[in-house]
Amino acid sequence: MSTAAIIPAAGLGLRLGGEEPKAFREVGGESLLVHAVRGLRAATAADLACFVVAVPAGTEDDVHKLLEPYVGSAVLRVVAGGAERTDSVRLALELVPVDGIDCVLVHDAARSFVPVEVIERVVLAVRSGAPAVVPVIPVTDTIKRIDPGGMVVDTPDRSALVAVQTPQGFEPNLLRRAHAGTVAGATDDAMLCERLGVTVRTVAGSEDAFKVTRPRDLILAESILSERRT
Ligand code: CTP
Ligand code: MG
Repeated sequence: MSTAAIIPAAGLGLRLGGEEPKAFREVGGESLLVHAVRGLRAATAADLACFVVAVPAGTEDDVHKLLEPYVGSAVLRVVAGGAERTDSVRLALELVPVDGIDCVLVHDAARSFVPVEVIERVVLAVRSGAPAVVPVIPVTDTIKRIDPGGMVVDTPDRSALVAVQTPQGFEPNLLRRAHAGTVAGATDDAMLCERLGVTVRTVAGSEDAFKVTRPRDLILAESILSERRT
């Protein structure tokens, strides 16, 4: 049995700005997408048989050529993404082989520097029987719930809150069922599983698995990369 990786990389990166979609922005001379693929490959325990990458429409052929050298013996499929992240994941999921896969990872191209150990923890938890697994880190800010007028409703106990990262790992048929239902308002794939009544397991994430979102994040990304290269 093997793992398949879905990489949603079809976003425009509006908060990051710049000329090209976020996944193609370079850090240390390589695109965020290449860094993400390399990280997944490096997690040997992940035993990756297949990559399905969702990209901006019209870039499929170029991305296929770009990524081919990095996927080793894994099958590479590149598909045009959809309007929302969930649409991109669903379109990619349709290309994940039905046979021989016991774990599907969904990993944001923008979380390009997730450490190998985090990926391995997620895969191991799925293989140990958890149908849905997310890497998490503690939140450092106090989080408040507010009403539409901006007034504070309440303050959840911070010790019971975590920030969720990717890769998220799933038993393949659960992920298919999750995406077959209504996806409105879902901001991650685990949330769709929760809606089915499935209990989602957490494993330790990493600060390095942050999502490149705003221009300053590129500075942090460069710094993580240069630390790793020394
Ligand atoms: N994504 C996608 N398809 C979309 C929107 C997002 O595949 N329609 C991907 C992005 O490429 C990214 C991941 O989902 O790898 C997380 O999304 P986010 O960080 O929000 O990226 P963008 O949507 O590109 O950025 P922004 O929201 O700033 O425009
Ligand atoms: Mg977005």
